[in-house]
Amino acid sequence: MLGVSWDTVRLFLHVLAATVWVGGQITLAALVPVLRRIGGTVPAAAARRFRQVAWPAFGVLVITGIWNVVAVRPQIHGRYETTLIVKLVVVLISGLTAFLHERARSKLGLAVFGALTAISALAALFLGILLAG
Ligand code: HEM
Repeated sequence: MLGVSWDTVRLFLHVLAATVWVGGQITLAALVPVLRRIGGTVPAAAARRFRQVAWPAFGVLVITGIWNVVAVRPQIHGRYETTLIVKLVVVLISGLTAFLHERARSKLGLAVFGALTAISALAALFLGILLAG
């Protein structure tokens, strides 16, 4: 068996949190049509439950993300640094649009901020793989 290092723990926690933030949004979006058929308020109840795991996951992403930055510091220059900065901007957008999505009162606001949250989350995932590659 390969040995487990702190790098293993760091990346395991980062990727686990990413599966909740990104995968959770995709799963919830896929369930909404069925939940809506059960009852008008069911999608909102499911979303309220999801946010109780989503925001802690986002918090773990930020904390393990900072740990990542400390761990890979010698690599942070040139194109790696540019990619990391773009990723941080995308992560900020993902968090901000999720916050605005939760507070949206119109169907349009819900849809636009929800879509922006998901697209930016997917972009952060892709950029993360690019950084680790
Ligand atoms: C929506 C939020 C985020 C998602 C979905 C995400 C996703 C990922 C993924 C999937 C990896 C690749 C892990 C691997 O293959 O080993 C990664 C790596 C990385 N992430 Fe994130 N991340 C997020 C937020 C952050 C934040 C906030 C930071 C910095 C504060 C950050 C910094 C990094 C760094 C530096 C790496 C490279 C780690 C290494 O090569 O050891 N990430 N991220």
